[in-house]
Amino acid sequence: MAATGPRPYELIRRKRDGLELSAAEIAVLVDGFVSGAVPDYQMSAFLMAVFFRGMSAAEIATLTRAMRDSGETLDLSSFGGRTADKHSTGGVGDKVSLVLAPLAAAAGLVVPMMSGRGLGHTGGTIDKLESIPGFDTALSTDAFLRQLDQIGVAMVAQSDRLAPADRRMYALRDVTATVESIPLIAASIMSKKLAEGCDNLVLDVKFGRGAFMQKMVDAEALARTMTAIGNANGVRTRALLSSMEQPLGLALGNAVEVEETIACLRGAGPADLRELTLRLGAEMMLLAGVEASREAATARLARLLDDGSALERFRGMVVAQGGDPAYVDDPQRFYRPAVTLPVVSRARGVVAGIDTLEVGLTIVALGGGRARLYEPIRHEVGVLLNRKVGDEVDAGDVLAQVLAATSAAAGEAVQRLQAAIVISGALDAAGRGGQPPAATPFILDLPQRT
Ligand code: URA
Repeated sequence: MAATGPRPYELIRRKRDGLELSAAEIAVLVDGFVSGAVPDYQMSAFLMAVFFRGMSAAEIATLTRAMRDSGETLDLSSFGGRTADKHSTGGVGDKVSLVLAPLAAAAGLVVPMMSGRGLGHTGGTIDKLESIPGFDTALSTDAFLRQLDQIGVAMVAQSDRLAPADRRMYALRDVTATVESIPLIAASIMSKKLAEGCDNLVLDVKFGRGAFMQKMVDAEALARTMTAIGNANGVRTRALLSSMEQPLGLALGNAVEVEETIACLRGAGPADLRELTLRLGAEMMLLAGVEASREAATARLARLLDDGSALERFRGMVVAQGGDPAYVDDPQRFYRPAVTLPVVSRARGVVAGIDTLEVGLTIVALGGGRARLYEPIRHEVGVLLNRKVGDEVDAGDVLAQVLAATSAAAGEAVQRLQAAIVISGALDAAGRGGQPPAATPFILDLPQRT
C-alpha cells in the first residue's frame, strides 16, 4: 500500500458505517490484500462490513475490476466476437455445462469454458469431468487457445493466474460466514468471467431450496447485478432464472452425471436437463448474433443433439484433453461402487417435494462433494432418482438408489433421503386423493422492470 494512501482501518470503519468507498479506496484494499499489505483479519472485517452494509453499483463495479486486474486476462479477440460462455450460480444435478459447451461449439460458437469445483452442497463441472480417466482440466493458456481454435471448445478449471484476489477472498469468506452476499458473489463470479475475455455470457441464476439464493427476489437481484457488470465491461450478458426446488435431471454426483450428460448428447436423457440446456444455448446464440430468433436457435440446437453432432464434439474434446474416449462410447464402463441401496417409499401418494439442499449435503457426506476447497472427492458415489416432484408412487416403490463406498454411508444416506423426499396426500385404493404440488416455474426470464 502507498504510504500516503488511506489506511485500511479507515476504509473498514467507513464501510462499517455504511459510507461509499471510492474506486481508489477499493483498489487500496484489494491490491493491498494481494500484495500482503492488508492482512487476512482486515480483509475479513471488510468483507463482513460489506455483508451487512452492501455496496452501491459503482462500488461493485470497482471491486469486480480490481479483482479482475489482480491477475492475467485472456485475449480472445482473434475469434471475432463468436466466443460465448455460460455460468451457473450452482446447484444439485446441474450438468448443463457438460452438454451445452460441446453443443454450442457444434452450432458454430467458440466456447472457452472455465469452471469451478463443487463447494458446499453444490456440484462442480470440473469434478464431474475428472470422472473421465485421464481428462486434464489444467491446460496451459497456449493449449487452451489452440484447442479452441481446433475444435471450438475447451473445458478447464479456473486458472490460478486469473483473478487471484477472488480465490483468496473466497477462502476467507468461506470461513467467516460471508459467502451469501450479493455484491461479493457478483464480484467474485464476474471478476473471473471478465478475466476470461469472453464476448458473450449467459448466466443461469438459480433460486429455490437447493440454490445459494433461495429466494426468487434475491436471485433476481443477483442476476441484475451480474448482468449490469458484464454489459458495462464489454461482455454481452443475459441472465435466466432457473429452479433448484428439486435436483436437475435424475443422476446426482460426478461419474453418474457424466453418464447422464452422454445420454442427453445422444438425444435422450431427462426432459428438464434438455429443456434448460436448449434455453441457455439459444440465449448464447442470440447474444453472439448467429441466429435471429429463439425458435430457430432452439430448433438448430435440438437437431445437433439428436443427430450426434454435439456428442462428436464432446468426444473430440475428451480426446484433446487426454481423457479416455472409451468411457464416452460405452458409459457402462464408469465404475460403480460396491454398495447400492434403494430408498423405498413408505406411503402411496404423490412426491410433493424434494429437499434439494439436503440431497446435495447427502452426496457430500457420501464423499461426492467437499466441505472445503481442495478436499479430495469420490467420483463414483451419488444418487440416482427414480421419481421427481409430481410423480405418483406406491408404498414399496423405489424412489432413488444410493451409490456409496460403504454400507454404513449408504444406510445413513438412505435415511436422509427418505426424509428429504416428501410424499403427500396418500392415494386411496382407486388412486384418488393425492395432492399434486402447486406448479412452480422451472425457467424464468429476468422480469422486465416496470
Ligand atoms: N461462485 C463463485 O465463484 N463465487 C461466489 O461467491 C459464489 C459462487
